Amino acid sequence: MSIESVKSELEKDLVDVSSMEQLIELKNKYLSKKGLITELNSEIKNVPNEEKKEFGQKVNDLRNTFNDYFESNKNRIEEDILNQKLSKEAIDITLPATKVVSGAPNMLEELVEQVEEVFLSMGYDVVDGPEIELDKYNFEMLNIPKGHPARDAQDTFYIEGEEILLRSQTSPVQVRTMLEGKGEVPIRMICPGKTYRRDDDDATHSHQFMQIEGLVVDKDISLSDLKGTLDILFKKLFGEDTQSRFHPSYYQFTEPSVEVDITCHKCKGAGCNICKNTGWITIVGAGVVHPNVLRMSGYDPEKWTGFAFGFGADRLTMLKYDINDCRAIYNTDLRESKAFDRKEAE
Ligand code: DAH
Repeated sequence: MSIESVKSELEKDLVDVSSMEQLIELKNKYLSKKGLITELNSEIKNVPNEEKKEFGQKVNDLRNTFNDYFESNKNRIEEDILNQKLSKEAIDITLPATKVVSGAPNMLEELVEQVEEVFLSMGYDVVDGPEIELDKYNFEMLNIPKGHPARDAQDTFYIEGEEILLRSQTSPVQVRTMLEGKGEVPIRMICPGKTYRRDDDDATHSHQFMQIEGLVVDKDISLSDLKGTLDILFKKLFGEDTQSRFHPSYYQFTEPSVEVDITCHKCKGAGCNICKNTGWITIVGAGVVHPNVLRMSGYDPEKWTGFAFGFGADRLTMLKYDINDCRAIYNTDLRESKAFDRKEAE
């Protein structure tokens, strides 16, 4: 092919193309081994010497024209591809945001906080005690000597011999508090904490559960102080119309001992499945601190009296939120705590 015909072919071809494939096809047509411009270049040896320079120049011009065309088209095509990608991936900031699943407070934790608030507002301290406890505090100084049948009711995890155990109740914290108090009054404390018993786990039993213990020691403390105090708590937790009553019971570390019932918050006393149709639910063990317990911990029972109480926080949580499987309280499934959350909001 002559230079002129390659040039006119090239002029026809050099229109803007829209894809890299087309561009590469053109490059092959002109600059590959058998390309038109490459072939012209190899023609140079047949050109008479005096025309070689001009011929070479023209072939070079053609090559430069093609290269310029190639570069500018390549840049444009790459830019187009990028723009298309950007517009495809663009974020529409006017769209509503995707919902973030948020947690809900654990119900047991929340209940313990509510109880703490009530007692803090009445001037109580919230104290802590060890979960690994001495037999001495868990039983002996609570007036439950070794071999006493009252121990059998609390199937205890012993860790080492007969002396070190996982506390089966939060009552040992009474003893620790009195020992620390060194005979001084008043004592007003509550102690929420984990307790352990050798129970098989099921819907209503757990080898680990939360108790809240309470102790007041001062002058002339009586059962009516206990009743007034607990009533404040019950009304806060279950509503102002909640009533309570005592019935006699037995604990080694209180004398007299009582169990405390509240009116069923679900049926308001009419009778339902929760209160087993009695209208009342027993939720607290309590009593007047036994003189032996006071004495053993350094408080003179002739001078001081006290009341003590203990209740299961898990059970109270189950009652409050109408949960029938205690394992749900420790479940970390958000759908679960959300469901209870909703229940409370209803
Ligand atoms: N510790 C008892 C229990 O686990 C509950 C209890 C009853 C605690 C009477 C007390 C009390 O402080 O006075 O069953």
